[in-house]
Amino acid sequence: MLILLKHPLLTHKLTQLRRRETCTKDFRETLDEIAGLMAYEVTNDLPLKTVTVDTPLARFQTRELAMDIVLVPVLRAGLGMVDGITKLIPSERVGHIGMYRDHKTLEPLTYYTKLPDNLQNAIVMVLDPMLATGGSSGAAIQVLKDHGAKTIKLVCVVGVPEGVRKIEHDHPDVQIYLAGLDERLNENGYILPGLGDAGDRLFGT
Ligand code: PRP
Ligand code: URA
Repeated sequence: MLILLKHPLLTHKLTQLRRRETCTKDFRETLDEIAGLMAYEVTNDLPLKTVTVDTPLARFQTRELAMDIVLVPVLRAGLGMVDGITKLIPSERVGHIGMYRDHKTLEPLTYYTKLPDNLQNAIVMVLDPMLATGGSSGAAIQVLKDHGAKTIKLVCVVGVPEGVRKIEHDHPDVQIYLAGLDERLNENGYILPGLGDAGDRLFGT
C-alpha cells in the first residue's frame, strides 16, 4: 500500500533536494531533515503499551512504544536518512544492507548484510531515498523477511509508479511511504524528473 506524504514542509524540502545546484552539504542536510519529517508520519500508527511512571509529584499510568524499531538503510544512499530518524526515535537498532544496481541489467547486487537479532518482534523500516524499478528495495525486503522480519515499512523519498507496483505485487504486506511520486524512468533506469543519482549527490562522488 502506498502512502504519499504531502506535508508542505516535505514538498518544499524535496524541491530543494531536486535542484541541480544543491551542493553535497545542503543535499545531505536536507535529506536528513526530510527523513525526520517522514519519520513523524511513518510512525503515526505504532502500537503503544501501558506503563506506570513516577513523576516528581505522583504515580501515573501512561503509554510508551510497545515495539522495538529497527532501521535498515540500503547502502549507500539510505545512510543519509538514518540520523534524521534516530533523532526522533533514539532507541532503535540499525542494520545495513549493501546493494548496487548493475548499470546494464538494473538488477540489484547485494554485497553486504549485517542485521540485528530478533527482527520478528520489531517494526523494521527500510530506508532508501530512491524507488526506481523497485529491484533494490524489493530485494532488501526479501533479505529482511528471510531473517524473520514480519512487520516492514519501506521509507523512500522519490518513487515512480513502476517501482511502487513491483513492491505492491511482490510484498503486498509492506507499507510504502513516499514524499514524491514522479512520472517515469528514463532509458537508463533513472527517475524523471527525480533528483539524479542519490548516492553520488549525497557523498560527492
Ligand atoms: C540507487 C538507490 C537505490 C536504487 C534504486 O542505488 O539508492 O538503492 O538505486 O533503484 P532501483 O529501484 O531500480 O533498484 P545505487 O544502485 O545507485 O547504489 P549506490 O546508492 O551505492 O550509489
Ligand atoms: N537511483 C538513483 O540514485 N536515482 C535514480 O533516479 C534511480 C535510481
